[in-house]
Amino acid sequence: MRIVSGIQPTGNLHLGNYLGAIRNWVRMQDEVAEGGGDCLFFLADLHALSMPHVPADLTANTRAMTAALVACGIDPDRSTLFNQARVPAHAELQWLLNGTARLGWLNRMTQFKDKSGKNRESASAALYTYPVLQAADVLLYQATHVPVGEDQKQHLELARDIAQKFNNDYASPEAPVFTLPEPIIPPGAARIMSLRDGSAKMSKSDPSDMSRINLTDDADTMMQKVRKAKTDPEPLPSEAAGLEGRPEAKNLVGIYATFADVSVDAVLGDFAGKGFGAFKPALGELLVEKLGPINARFVALKDDHATLDAILEKGAGKARALAKPTLDATYGILGLCR
Ligand code: TYM
Repeated sequence: MRIVSGIQPTGNLHLGNYLGAIRNWVRMQDEVAEGGGDCLFFLADLHALSMPHVPADLTANTRAMTAALVACGIDPDRSTLFNQARVPAHAELQWLLNGTARLGWLNRMTQFKDKSGKNRESASAALYTYPVLQAADVLLYQATHVPVGEDQKQHLELARDIAQKFNNDYASPEAPVFTLPEPIIPPGAARIMSLRDGSAKMSKSDPSDMSRINLTDDADTMMQKVRKAKTDPEPLPSEAAGLEGRPEAKNLVGIYATFADVSVDAVLGDFAGKGFGAFKPALGELLVEKLGPINARFVALKDDHATLDAILEKGAGKARALAKPTLDATYGILGLCR
């Protein structure tokens, strides 16, 4: 079992990233340690070039996101933690896979459509070919499982399509070059929504900071964001079915259930008939209880640049060694002389 996943170091780590992906990374790290296999987690700094960016912010965010991941429980001694830019094999394999990825496949990617917006002509080429880099990220290490939120499912399907076509075109069925990776998507937290709009996903790119809980928010800020979260005037229902058509309520109850590790019905068992005046403080307290220790670890680590850089450099050394056999095999099978 080889677990591989990444996160862009743009902005803060928020509740959607945490519940959709990072909490699973930490769980898988612990499971893998018991059952054999290994985990690679990386900062997708090359992906950050797909949108306009400020270079100094990218450097700062790469370190801050590293501190946040360690604070969440990623252990750099047990998992390989690094940033893409320190492992050139990612960019190299992307180019090699560009020959296999089809334009028709890339044209179907909904994230490109969303992020390029109306002004598609001025979107960067990197935004368009981004999913090929993402395929390279996982295929390079023969990933078997990729823990992600729902929004990355389509990119993972593309990675499988690229792997399959490459294997068919160049390799023999007995000796495929690439493993087909499986996405691991948490059922209850696949898509955490904005606190301001239950139809938009919680995202780093939302201009309103009130739309998300950042793992770096202090307790007062978290309580305030939950208090101001958009809701409706109805009391909470007694069963999950009663939340249909109430996206904001469904999101908040879902967040509570995920953090408390209980079912939505169990949460509603405690709050049925009560309004948000009772539910919101309970949710805020639960968030502070669960995220407070992460925040404290983050604050203690975030300015220790020497430690953070050393973690990434050490992880990159391990990643470069793990990437080499697949990269060499790919060059070789394509007939490239080196
Ligand atoms: P990114 O940086 O946008 O998000 C990191 C992880 O958080 C998940 N996520 C969410 N899950 C639930 N609800 C939300 N509102 C929410 N917002 C974000 C994402 O699904 C993701 O798992 N392209 C990727 C980074 C990447 C990658 C990879 C991931 C690059 N290469 C290879 C896996 C494998 C991205 O931009 O994620």
